[in-house]
Amino acid sequence: MSKKRVLSGIQPTHDSFHLGNYLGALKQWVQLQEDNDAFYCVVDLHALTIETDPKVLQKRILLSAAQLIAIGVDPSKCTLFIQSHVPAHNQLAWVLECITGFGEAGRMTQFKDKSQKGGADRTNVGLFTYPILQAADILLYQADFVPVGEDQRQHIELTRDLGQRFNSKYKEIFNIPQAQIIKSLAKINDLQEPTAKMSKSAASMSGVIELLDAPEITLKKFKSSVTDDGKEVKFDEKGKPGISNLLTIHSALSGKSIEAIENEFAGKGYGDFKSAVAEVVIAELEPIRDRTKQLMDDPAELVSLLSTGAKKANEVASNTLKEVYAALGLI
Ligand code: TYM
Repeated sequence: MSKKRVLSGIQPTHDSFHLGNYLGALKQWVQLQEDNDAFYCVVDLHALTIETDPKVLQKRILLSAAQLIAIGVDPSKCTLFIQSHVPAHNQLAWVLECITGFGEAGRMTQFKDKSQKGGADRTNVGLFTYPILQAADILLYQADFVPVGEDQRQHIELTRDLGQRFNSKYKEIFNIPQAQIIKSLAKINDLQEPTAKMSKSAASMSGVIELLDAPEITLKKFKSSVTDDGKEVKFDEKGKPGISNLLTIHSALSGKSIEAIENEFAGKGYGDFKSAVAEVVIAELEPIRDRTKQLMDDPAELVSLLSTGAKKANEVASNTLKEVYAALGLI
């Protein structure tokens, strides 16, 4: 049986990825590269929707690639590349823009949230067409599965709609992908605001666990995390969102069931539990942090790995684009 194709991407908008990225998406990336033909990219073009100092962006793109490798994304098992190294992403995005309704793009909730937060003056057209570029990322590689967190579900739905629309209007070229979302990990919440998703654009970073945080910062963030009334460590998403979020994090990293963790902390206070969660997280993140630092010491090696990835990605992507152009009647 031929291998399934997997594709996913992550934005280099900050120095460090956070625990939501890691548990919701990146751990899946690492697993899926084992038995599938996986393509993973740092979506630097998407990051241009947020104005950033060019030097800072350049560093973040490399830091993103380094973190992915440190986490276990292995360029010898998958194709790891930078989106802007493959021009077909923009080329297909334009084609897809021409079959996307204006209202359809306007209904994307991430666009609505971001444009409302930024106000009309800071909302650029790139933010509006962002999901269409994402659809191009996915469709170019004929992906079967797209491992992501819950916040990307609507973008994957749009990708499916656009792929199907193109197929029925012109020619059956695109494989129609499925989102691969792990329900229990699809939305890791902010430690200070446990009903809101952990996000790189949070107003305060005190509830966001960054992979590259020093251990003492991680410990502090967990110790000051917002918990709920009562003192029982029990999973109850509605009644105890703070404790439930911590239980989810602990369980995902320790491999223990939620029930086993509840039993372990029966009769103990929230304080002990929070320290234990911090300990599990720090043990997971410390090697990632060290390895990222090592990789950043040799940027030339990173760039060389990424250019090998770009070559493989370009081959697949340019084949799809060629078929698309021909189907459209371009000569
Ligand atoms: P980005 O860069 O915001 O996030 C990367 C991945 O992390 C997931 N994620 C979360 N999962 C669980 N809990 C959270 N709190 C949490 N926060 C983030 C995201 O769902 C995502 O999977 N538009 C995409 C990038 C993208 C892409 C693609 C993804 C561009 N092209 C093609 C897949 C396929 C984004 O902004 O992800």
